[in-house]
Amino acid sequence: MKHLIDPTDITKEETDQIVALAEDIIAHRERYQGSMAHRKLATLFYEPSTRTRLSFTSAMMELGGNVLGFSDAKNSSVSKGETVQDTVRVVGCFADIIAMRHHIEGAPLVAAEVSRVPIINAGDGSHSHPTQTLTDLLTIKRELGHIDGITIGFCGDLRFGRTVHSLIKALSRYNNINVILIAPDELRLPDYIKQDVCDKMGVAYKETSDLDEVMPELDVLYMTRVQKERFLDEDEFDRVKDSFVLDARRMALAKEKMAVLHPLPRVNEILPEVDSDPRAAYFRQVENGKFVRMALICSLMDWKNDPAHQMPVQEAPVVNPNLHCSNSKCICNNEKVEPRFKRTENGVVRCWYCDSKVR
Ligand code: NCD
Repeated sequence: MKHLIDPTDITKEETDQIVALAEDIIAHRERYQGSMAHRKLATLFYEPSTRTRLSFTSAMMELGGNVLGFSDAKNSSVSKGETVQDTVRVVGCFADIIAMRHHIEGAPLVAAEVSRVPIINAGDGSHSHPTQTLTDLLTIKRELGHIDGITIGFCGDLRFGRTVHSLIKALSRYNNINVILIAPDELRLPDYIKQDVCDKMGVAYKETSDLDEVMPELDVLYMTRVQKERFLDEDEFDRVKDSFVLDARRMALAKEKMAVLHPLPRVNEILPEVDSDPRAAYFRQVENGKFVRMALICSLMDWKNDPAHQMPVQEAPVVNPNLHCSNSKCICNNEKVEPRFKRTENGVVRCWYCDSKVR
């Protein structure tokens, strides 16, 4: 069974295939209408969403399929205490494929372990967001014509921004990617991405808090919202909330051919005056999200029983009662899930579900 929980659950070739299929769908929309007739997608959203849920819904509708699910877990049996695994076992009796968003990190992974239909992670806490990554890759390809060789600046909340974590993971498999991390100290990229992704994959990166200085180097500027809902301390949020604001003055420092991406929603980090700049790609990016999700649904349904498209083989997890995941928002600290760990190549032990360092 093929699921998409982490961007590396699909190979680079499979990723490129999905992006290419999305481009074909854009060029020949009529050919794909009806290709998911009589199929059902369940959208299980335990956390707020506009774009992601509606783009999944409109993707499935455009493919001629149907959609069921919930957009607020309060209205489901979750409010009676049902576990993620039980909910997925039940929904798998009604739907052919499931897209799940959860505020608890690792929830979609645990769901996939018992599911009889493909699970798509539509965002888990501040951990991963692989379908936004596919959207971002398609957008970069369409805006610049290529992904290899780009210099991309990630700006804003690199600590809690799951779209950043997933996109860096995916980009690490392309050639000559140059990453510039633009964030205040409090919002820097987690170590596990720097060590287990950038260092391991040989991705060049530098950290700065000066957006103006790096603006002229960028082919892509990836702006992000400061993730208010993930802060444990409100004062800390107030201190960093308006760290970077993109305006026309800053756009004047950038290359003529460059693309500004943002997974949206934006709050203050891009002024409306930037919207009319031809390099502002964030609303085109939203539309790409629908096409790429159409391509993903078709691909996962196709690959479901194909031995050539299985989940990557992983090393056996470490199970040790003396180890504890330190992340209160991890599934292993919220549901009855066996704590499991993985040892990375540089010897660090991390949680199997959320990648946090262990105690
Ligand atoms: C992002 C998310 O939910 O992580 N939005 C999205 O899916 N397009 C970014 C965000 O909420 O800031």
